[in-house]
Amino acid sequence: MRRVREDFPISNEVVYMNTAAISLKPVQVIDAMTEFMKGYEANGTVNFSDSLEGEVLENARCRISELIGCRSDDIALTTNTSEGINFVAHSIKFEHGNNVVTTDLEFPTVTYPWLKIAKEKGVEVRFALNRNGIVSVEDLEKLVDDNTRVIALSHVEYSSGQRFNLREVADLAHRHGAILVVDAVQSLGVIPLNVKRENVDALASAAYKWLLGPFGAGFVYMRKELYENVMPPFVGWRSNKEHEEYDPQKFTLPETARRFEYGGMPYTPIYGLTKAIEYIMSIGIENIREHVMNLTQKLIDGLNDLGAQILTPSNREQRAGIVSARFDKMDYDKIVEELAKNKIIVSKRMNALRISPHIYNVEEDVMKFVEAIKKVRK
Ligand SMILES: Cc1ncc(COP(=O)(O)O)c(C=O)c1O
Repeated sequence: MRRVREDFPISNEVVYMNTAAISLKPVQVIDAMTEFMKGYEANGTVNFSDSLEGEVLENARCRISELIGCRSDDIALTTNTSEGINFVAHSIKFEHGNNVVTTDLEFPTVTYPWLKIAKEKGVEVRFALNRNGIVSVEDLEKLVDDNTRVIALSHVEYSSGQRFNLREVADLAHRHGAILVVDAVQSLGVIPLNVKRENVDALASAAYKWLLGPFGAGFVYMRKELYENVMPPFVGWRSNKEHEEYDPQKFTLPETARRFEYGGMPYTPIYGLTKAIEYIMSIGIENIREHVMNLTQKLIDGLNDLGAQILTPSNREQRAGIVSARFDKMDYDKIVEELAKNKIIVSKRMNALRISPHIYNVEEDVMKFVEAIKKVRK
């Protein structure tokens, strides 16, 4: 991966292990977006046409569908994860007495759309409680019953780094006639994920974390049965199947998940997302996973030696690119600041240090981090 580091110039200046917040972006993606802006955005319709617009969007849907193993028709492009989860929540019909099961470890994006529905429709949101940063599937199961419509969780939890076995949770949901809705923003790009194999019903992500893409681009996958009869929450000129006719009286929704895309799109970020997925695929997700898993193992070993309490499961199957650690009597804000002064970039989350390396990191980065922690704790 040393060669790859050249694609991320700042990785020579700082030890950047904060992917779970915002990743570094490869020069290939930045250059492609710059070219796109110069060639198309700068020049109005001189170079940009309806057909090119369609091509940019369909290329993105195709790359995404290859990445997660679904039909491109089942993908709607969005600007972020939150938008995607809202589209899913909007598509589900709830009745009084239904419930949604989630965890107390979720990023608010995962729970707010259901809490909104809870306020509007008397639906109950049930939270499985973590024990030392981990939520067990058994604890989820205790909350699921035949009134459960949705289990909503992150593939990888943003604070603890716990990775769920999606197939197991999907089976649990399906046994009760519920669906599994997944936030994959902390896993896609580092963990191979196939929605068909895992039997996931809906999944949303943004580009700007492990996928190494830009702000302003994201997507949502939904099983066809979930969206085929749904009137989207927003509609606009692109909501019509034949939208290039611009007929203000004719309004026939596309049969595909494209029905959620209603107006002008963030073409440059979406183009950037396509290039980012191509970049990731050129390295190979399996290779990325191996590299990141080795780094996180080294991190766990180093932190253990320092006597830290590691919140992230040590088992490889239950973690991904995030390692979260607590120390006795540590002021995490101060430590994060001190580390940043030493050009080591990590975060504080859930009263712990969160370290999240990607392909731009090497073992030396982990060693530098461990040494720096030793020093700043003295
Ligand atoms: C699990 C999870 N979901 C979503 C987001 C961000 O949401 P959005 O893509 O809407 O900005 C984050 C950001 O930290 C996250 O950790």
